[in-house]
Amino acid sequence: MNLNKLKKTLKRKQKQVDKYLARCLPSGKTFPQPIYQAMRYSLLAGGKRFRPVLVLLTGQMLGAKASDLMPAAAALEMIHTYSLIHDDLPVMDNDDLRRGKPTNHKVFGEAMAVLAGDALLTMSFKLIADKVKNKKLAARLVSEISGAAGAAGMVGGQVLDMFAESRKKGAREKLGLLSRAKYLKTTHQLKTAAMITASVRSGALVAGARPGQLRKLTVYGRSLGLAFQIMDDLLDLKGSKRQLGKTPRKDARAGKLTYPSLWGTEQSFRQVQQLVKTAKRALISFGPRAGSLRDLADYGLQRGN
Ligand code: IPE
Ligand code: IPE
Ligand code: MG
Ligand code: MG
Ligand code: MG
Repeated sequence: MNLNKLKKTLKRKQKQVDKYLARCLPSGKTFPQPIYQAMRYSLLAGGKRFRPVLVLLTGQMLGAKASDLMPAAAALEMIHTYSLIHDDLPVMDNDDLRRGKPTNHKVFGEAMAVLAGDALLTMSFKLIADKVKNKKLAARLVSEISGAAGAAGMVGGQVLDMFAESRKKGAREKLGLLSRAKYLKTTHQLKTAAMITASVRSGALVAGARPGQLRKLTVYGRSLGLAFQIMDDLLDLKGSKRQLGKTPRKDARAGKLTYPSLWGTEQSFRQVQQLVKTAKRALISFGPRAGSLRDLADYGLQRGN
């Protein structure tokens, strides 16, 4: 794998995304100012832009133009950012730092943080409806992304995540998924892998991918998405996200159900390696043009190093 080349590609694409996002959002001087200031604060706070980069890499691999991919890419990042603002609230993970800065509610208050999340979510779909010229494609993207973001995807995963804490054991059982391993895997598939899969699929949809290609890319996205969340929990434990403004070991302290807490770190890392293998195998038929997606899966294993 050519790590230097990938890192350069990622930086370039992150910058493109940052620029586009900044243009999507009205300035903080726009009435009513507090909401735009809160939205801009979190959306333009950095972040890896992993989901929009996936849209761009997948779409461009299949021949789409960056300018045609950008509305879906930006929409996914808006939804992701809203999910982080709400995830950090005291009623959820109660985190003080995000992307190296105080969390949205610490700066703007809880009510404004809820509203900034709501507004980012809503803006994401307006962006697709307004900017995607092919209206049939726009409708398809809205369906794809709203499915991944809602109760059958990320929101549903956050629900399972909330009920997974040990003090809510009874609630977990009520959901009818009795095995902890199965419960945990489903949580990650929904809370993280669904949006990552939707990113890959959105890029493919913009490029007009065939059903067979979409199926393979779905396998790639699901495996990569699950690996991504396991790595996130491994990095939380290691404390290597400290410089990114994360509170290390917070999840472990809260007695949260994670791959490392259930399987141990070594076994969890082996599962990540296995998932990356599955992700890369799904790309075989795309040949050399899938090089960046392949490298990105490998790079995931080194995240935080
Ligand atoms: C954090 O996502 C939440 C997870 C789903 C693991 P990212 O690791 O993509 O966070 P940012 O966007 O780079 O801040
Ligand atoms: C967040 O998962 C996943 C979302 C859908 C927002 P985490 O709670 O593990 O993410 P971090 O560690 O706060 O970034
Ligand atoms: Mg959480
Ligand atoms: Mg969290
Ligand atoms: Mg985490």
